[in-house]
Amino acid sequence: MKVAPSILSANFATLGEDVKKVEQLGADWIHIDAMDGQFVPNLTLGPNIVEGLRPITTLTLDCHLMVQEPERFVKEFAKAGADYISVHIEATNHIHRTLQLIKSEGVKAGIVINPGTPVSAISAVLGMVDLVLVMTVNPGFGGQAFIPETLDKVRELVELRKENGYQYLIEVDGGVNGQTAKLCREAGVDVAVAGSYVYYADDIKKAIDSIKEA
Ligand code: DX5
Ligand code: ZN
Repeated sequence: MKVAPSILSANFATLGEDVKKVEQLGADWIHIDAMDGQFVPNLTLGPNIVEGLRPITTLTLDCHLMVQEPERFVKEFAKAGADYISVHIEATNHIHRTLQLIKSEGVKAGIVINPGTPVSAISAVLGMVDLVLVMTVNPGFGGQAFIPETLDKVRELVELRKENGYQYLIEVDGGVNGQTAKLCREAGVDVAVAGSYVYYADDIKKAIDSIKEA
């Protein structure tokens, strides 16, 4: 499994160094959580952070937009240097148009489902996405407990990909640690996001390895 440390749990006073540190210790992607205080009850990072990090790392910048009507911000994230832009099905009335917009910017398009949203809600667009992000916690905060039932959706997505020849990667986000990473890998996850488990670890390399080699 690939690992994408979430900089939500990094030290913002030394953000660049915190990104370089996980890059050197084996991180595959960098996960950037944008929250608007409306779709989720928290405020965090915007395109300016992506722009600031772009020149200092060659890792894939994986931008997770937890914002209402994410279509309003796609162009800015693309211009800032995002590699993936992922939007929640629950946050827009125009998911197809939004995914098209992301792709037209030359960026890989991801779709995200909350723990309460079934895979059937996104079945119409599975053929056009590069990434499906299955939330394994309710979005808004780092450090929450993993919801194991969400892995049924990962298994369903693995099946659908096989049956239909779809190309998407399957990512999970929230509550990933050395133990839950094993469950994710068994279910068929390709990329695991981990914030607090990586950034609060005494031994960051060990934490990263425990997910990659779960
Ligand atoms: C939650 C965010 C996550 C968060 C995960 O809304 O989308 O990316 O940083 O944090 P942990 O790994 O601590 O659950
Ligand atoms: Zn996230």
